[in-house]
Amino acid sequence: MNITMIGAGYVGLTTGTCLANFGNNVICMDVDADKITGLEKGEMPFFEPGLKEMVEQNVKEKRLHFTTDMQKAIQESDIIFLCVGTPSGPDGKADLKYVFSAAESIGKHINGFKVIVDKSTVPVGTAGQVEKKITESMETKHEFAMVSNPEFLREGFAITDFTIPDRIVIGTSSEKAKEMMTKVYKSIERTGRPIMFTDIKTAEMIKYASNAMLATRISFMNLLAPLCEKVGGDVKLVAKGMGLDNRIGPRFLQAGVGYGGSCFPKDVRALIGTLEEQGIDASMLKEVDEVNERQKKTLVPKLKKLLPDLKGKKIAIWGLAFKPRTDDMREASSLKMIPLLIKKGAYIRYYDPSGIKKEFKKYKQAVFYKDISKACLKSDLVIIHTEWNEFKTINFKKVVKKNNIKIFDMRNIYSPNKMKKNNIKYFSIGR
Ligand SMILES: NC(=O)c1ccc[n+]([C@@H]2O[C@H](COP(=O)([O-])OP(=O)(O)OC[C@H]3O[C@@H](n4cnc5c(N)ncnc54)[C@H](O)[C@@H]3O)[C@@H](O)[C@H]2O)c1
Repeated sequence: MNITMIGAGYVGLTTGTCLANFGNNVICMDVDADKITGLEKGEMPFFEPGLKEMVEQNVKEKRLHFTTDMQKAIQESDIIFLCVGTPSGPDGKADLKYVFSAAESIGKHINGFKVIVDKSTVPVGTAGQVEKKITESMETKHEFAMVSNPEFLREGFAITDFTIPDRIVIGTSSEKAKEMMTKVYKSIERTGRPIMFTDIKTAEMIKYASNAMLATRISFMNLLAPLCEKVGGDVKLVAKGMGLDNRIGPRFLQAGVGYGGSCFPKDVRALIGTLEEQGIDASMLKEVDEVNERQKKTLVPKLKKLLPDLKGKKIAIWGLAFKPRTDDMREASSLKMIPLLIKKGAYIRYYDPSGIKKEFKKYKQAVFYKDISKACLKSDLVIIHTEWNEFKTINFKKVVKKNNIKIFDMRNIYSPNKMKKNNIKYFSIGR
């Protein structure tokens, strides 16, 4: 199949590359000329394990192409995926300006029957609006079919999640589109992963409902964390005990710094916006968002228990992004925490396996270290911000104990008992 991805970001580039790897001919189109020039030179715009190698292989085999030329991208493909961003607007609702701008371009350049697939996360009803925009922008009349095919990949595991997904959701009322989408996903269907066909609106809702449910689970545990601290329980063990119940399951029950990233915060707020637009009380989801924000604010006061005066203190921070195996800094709690620590007079030495973070270059009190041991040398405190696997297996005696450093573990990756035995002053969440 000839496929175009409009938007070569995390979703467009990863899914486009995987679709090329299935044997399709794929064009990744983006309005960001620097991104496209970089991709043509083999430079990845973000860190995603295994992606660079897969891009190189498919470019070499001439199945994967990059362009800024919207007309060519639309006219040379039968299936066009919309993978542009849908950030939060000032009122928290999804800002659809990139989706609508891409829809207008499709209308302008369409030259025959196309299947238009919305992969961006959008509020229920958006496909209808996209259809209208395309029709209104058409210079010559052509037929097209709309599909909603939400994406569920996780950054850090994007290739595995796309190629072995829990499910593929395809919402459409067109039999022809259904047939063409089945061909696109033939390789995945062969692995036995379920493909679920629905109407468009149901497909649009499945994505928001899934993210809101996962965010709710995290906020639920963050609601229990301070209770555990007050009454003397261990929230990690509470989660373990809950997760052993088959009806609940163990995932997304980690108390910690709260959820971040490019999806959960904005998707929860967008769903609140849609519910309220329809006159439905959204207070339950508002509380999910509120607990999450509250959780981020509790971190610095907690830290004060370990270091009452932050002035002049050296703090080593392990991990900066909102989760491991990604360099995505969108809505990472470190973005709020680090400026606050600096304001209180602390010096930040940060280490992140995915490299330096441009967000902190403006602070002369925040320095990036390539070597975690050097970041910790003569530091007063370590903050474990992101749970990269390498932090779980670090040489503790050499890196921490020798320097007599205190630890604030925001991800509960260590055992408080072990820390006590080793005489390390240790603080975690909800324990
Ligand atoms: N990142 C994730 O983990 C993830 C997972 C599932 C779903 N999603 C959803 O997928 C969508 C895309 O997310 P992302 O993280 O890939 O965003 P992103 O910001 O990484 O990428 C979006 C890209 O679209 C480009 N763009 C904007 N307007 C354009 C236009 N008119 N024509 C061509 N390109 C245009 C931008 O330059 C950018 O490169 C969002 O709706 C998001 O919620 C993201």
